Amino acid sequence: MKDLAGKHIVLGLSGGIACYKAAELCRALIKAGATVQVVMTEAAGQFITPVTMQALSGRPVFTSQWDARTAGGADNNMPHINLSREADAIVVAPASADFMAKLLHGRADDLLSLMCLARPLESVPLVLAPAMNREMWSHPATQRNVEQLRADGATVLDVGVGDQACGESGDGRMLEPDELLYELTRFFTPKVLAGHHVLVSAGPTFEAIDPVRGLTNLSSGKMGFAIARAAHEAGAQVTLVAGPVALPTPRGVGRINVKSALNMQKTLNVLAQTCSVFVSAAAVADWRPASEATQKIKKDGSGDVPTLSFIENPDILAGIAASARAQSGALYCVGFAAESHDLVQHAQTKRVRKGVPLLVGNIGPDTFGQDDNALLLVDEQGTTELPRASKLVLARQLVQEIARRVPRTAA
Ligand code: C5P
Repeated sequence: MKDLAGKHIVLGLSGGIACYKAAELCRALIKAGATVQVVMTEAAGQFITPVTMQALSGRPVFTSQWDARTAGGADNNMPHINLSREADAIVVAPASADFMAKLLHGRADDLLSLMCLARPLESVPLVLAPAMNREMWSHPATQRNVEQLRADGATVLDVGVGDQACGESGDGRMLEPDELLYELTRFFTPKVLAGHHVLVSAGPTFEAIDPVRGLTNLSSGKMGFAIARAAHEAGAQVTLVAGPVALPTPRGVGRINVKSALNMQKTLNVLAQTCSVFVSAAAVADWRPASEATQKIKKDGSGDVPTLSFIENPDILAGIAASARAQSGALYCVGFAAESHDLVQHAQTKRVRKGVPLLVGNIGPDTFGQDDNALLLVDEQGTTELPRASKLVLARQLVQEIARRVPRTAA
């Protein structure tokens, strides 16, 4: 998926061992559809060569403010102006402690710092991905600089935690290339859900029969996880309540794992008291065994089979949709319906039965476990089709649709 199609990124490298990750980041940006112009400081050249970065970006690398080559289509020997004017963002990764200190003071004695200073503040955002030893990162001077750089309009990304090249362990590693790619995709996403707290349920539930057996279903959780990611990209605080699935947690999303429908209900009911949007994408089991055996049910060789009896699980969504917060409009509820036929009719009936303003219908066998899907949105006004696409693309469209229906908050 070309999340950064049409974006032109000036990728700046200052000196640090994390330069090796910048090579992969450059590749990832290009794969995501961006064009990339690399600018390196002299110190960065101690860690990785311009040849590598040129090969990966497909463009000559600039390292000096005295470089007279044509830059940004202009021949005026001003690469610091020309390269920055055509950028959708300048991304400095790695941003060393020294480089950030320099930016803070508006110093400009090499091409990269000169370009950062000369960029039009309104139209060319600056994103910094710090990378340094943990003591350097936690030093009051660095922390002060980070704060001031943010106040000056730069976006300073978080650092990672873990083993460092120096042999120490702690905060200060540069984020991994896939994390940086996510942060940049998020950076360019309009924050239509800023100020909202979005609660998403996802995946199947597991209804225990005994300590080793249970009933579940084929929901993969992919749609709910994609919605959680899309809501976070759109600026929301997101909590994901997930049934048993092995999917990685989307970056920036809080996750609570649950097993049974009753577990899920308890968790969601608490969170529904404070969130502003609830998207119920979980495939909650309709029934659970009437009782859970405390010990494994043994086969006794007689050929007799155990008899299971069931009781109905509570309808979590309908319960939350009937709550005072949802009824007053403080909580906007979105339901899902997986049907096998007559989608429009079933989805419309289900929306009314569940008491939700928006219901998202899909064909169950076409979506369970798949990476793509097609959705039918049903609300009071009628239906809207979201044609077949990847679940992430659909999740982003659904987030837009939700944002159109909830109040904009100042955040
Ligand atoms: O009734 P049905 O299972 O088709 O409804 C699907 C919608 O209701 C989904 O949004 C699902 O998360 C929710 N649901 C629920 N509790 C149940 C069953 C379904 O919240 N027990």
